[in-house]
Amino acid sequence: MQDVDALRNALLAQVEAADLDGLERLRVSELGKKGRITLLMRDLAGLDAQARRERGSHLNRLKEQVASALEARRAALADAALDARLAGESIDVTLPVRPEPQGRIHPISQTIDEVVAIFGEMGFALAEGPDIEDDWTNFGALNIPPEHPARQEMDTFYLPGERDGRRLVLRTHTSPVQVRTMRSQRPPIRIIAPGRTYRSDYDATHSPMFHQVEGLVIDRVIDMGHLKGCLIAFLRAYFALDDLPVRFRPSYFPFTEPSAEVDIGCAREGGTLRIGAGRDWLEILGCGMVNPVVLENCGIDPGQWQGFAFGMGLERIAMLKYGIPDLRTFFESDLRWLRHYGFAALEQPSLVTGL
Ligand code: PHE
Repeated sequence: MQDVDALRNALLAQVEAADLDGLERLRVSELGKKGRITLLMRDLAGLDAQARRERGSHLNRLKEQVASALEARRAALADAALDARLAGESIDVTLPVRPEPQGRIHPISQTIDEVVAIFGEMGFALAEGPDIEDDWTNFGALNIPPEHPARQEMDTFYLPGERDGRRLVLRTHTSPVQVRTMRSQRPPIRIIAPGRTYRSDYDATHSPMFHQVEGLVIDRVIDMGHLKGCLIAFLRAYFALDDLPVRFRPSYFPFTEPSAEVDIGCAREGGTLRIGAGRDWLEILGCGMVNPVVLENCGIDPGQWQGFAFGMGLERIAMLKYGIPDLRTFFESDLRWLRHYGFAALEQPSLVTGL
């Protein structure tokens, strides 16, 4: 057995001195299929039973000891390698983060969200209608007959084809959503309808596609006082000015009677415009009490129900609040403009947290 003990001492010493590659070489040369210990065990076959048992158990122990020494050394070397790597690689957590490119919320989307949040808190629901309307829903039902100058004034885009014998148009305002809502819902009604609108017009304050938000309230006892209170509250919340002067000026729309245009106070100082108290007025929206003719056109009994409606341009109120000078730039998709005038996603107003 001395040969086995000597071999053990020699092998354990070699294991202790080996690196990772050396360990693998030792495993193959000692324990592999043709390894030294494997061959010694094969030789047991030539011994008598007694000697085979004794030498066999010795060799088994040797095999286990060498195997576990190999494994222990391998684990120790791996630990040491990891420790060395950890010591060598350090992360400086004080370095500033590399900025990721971030998208911005378009000012129109932001404005729609703000308007929806303010009216949402007043109890208004959201309504929608299609961009392509028939001329009855866009004009006729709203008491704008075919020969009415409003049809020319609005520079309507007419489309080829018709629906149910009616001409198709790109809606010139969001007021057809009033008609759709009154024809599909029973009063009381309290909706706002933001959306795209179209008129053949193009300069610094007009674009052939623009946005409006429509409002409609129908109930049994609704009067001009409700209209005024609602719009004053909206304008003061939107411009974040509690004392914003608001003026109602008599006007005319075929679908409201009486009608008014609403101005907000402002000051023009030098070349700049400041919203709030000042000597000047700025027209901001149209409104009025829903014309009984329109209620009748929509199947609502004007003897029982009445209400008010309003409509305003979203680009216009966005330009005024955020100081954007030219309306055309809203739709040019210039990334530099979007980065400048756009909003971070976290600035989104929410009905829960308020503006
Ligand atoms: N539709 C009108 C426009 O585009 C605005 C408006 C809506 C006026 C509702 C009164 C009532 O100018």
